[in-house]
Amino acid sequence: MKKSAKSRPYTTRDRYFFAAKQQGYRARSVFKLMQLQEKFGIIRPDSRVLDLASAPGSFLQYIAKIVRPDIPIVGIDIQRIEPLGRPNIHLLQSDIFEFVTIADFIHSLGIDDFDVITSDIAPATTGHTGVDQYRSIELNLAILQVADRFLRARWALVLKVFVGEDVNELVTAVKSRYEKLSRYKPSACRDRSFEEYFVCRGKRNPTG
Ligand SMILES: C[S@@+](CC[C@H](N)C(=O)[O-])C[C@H]1O[C@@H](n2cnc3c(N)ncnc32)[C@H](O)[C@@H]1O
Repeated sequence: MKKSAKSRPYTTRDRYFFAAKQQGYRARSVFKLMQLQEKFGIIRPDSRVLDLASAPGSFLQYIAKIVRPDIPIVGIDIQRIEPLGRPNIHLLQSDIFEFVTIADFIHSLGIDDFDVITSDIAPATTGHTGVDQYRSIELNLAILQVADRFLRARWALVLKVFVGEDVNELVTAVKSRYEKLSRYKPSACRDRSFEEYFVCRGKRNPTG
């Protein structure tokens, strides 16, 4: 019998979904970060990484495999992130727009800045493509402000962007802050999705 669209959950059960399960990752998104890492080599064993929009935590799981266990990793999401059982991973439940909460948490850990900031942020989708795309731009503009303060000069920021007609607002904001912007769609992104990753390198202004 043919299944109705209603009975099918909106989960992409493709080879990445099954590979993530098999390899113990919390989400198929991990393959996007793996592909970004293969192409750009952004994260190093001594990189202090801030991962924004981390829940459920597959980026954090992968980052923790690259980074030395004595180097701090911070994960933040508006949803709760289940602990990953590693003392160097620090988790905060917060909205990305709560800059003071985020800054206080980072300072409470004795951290001044990060070498890499990754974000996989996705707005709760409304079904209206234009609205979802603009919301993604707003979220990413907030992330740029976090990076203005907490990313070391000359280092790298990774953004996930829902690309639509407002994307140039973000492109302009990135280019005023970073020497190089590379736009990349990992093959782990669904073909029909309008998401892309922005790899922003060479941060211009010093932090602090
Ligand atoms: C695609 S998921 C991230 C998956 C994650 N990278 C992983 O590997 O498990 C997108 C995340 O963006 C988060 N998010 C959306 N809006 C947010 C906001 N305003 N502040 C913080 N996180 C937000 C969602 O809660 C969701 O967990």
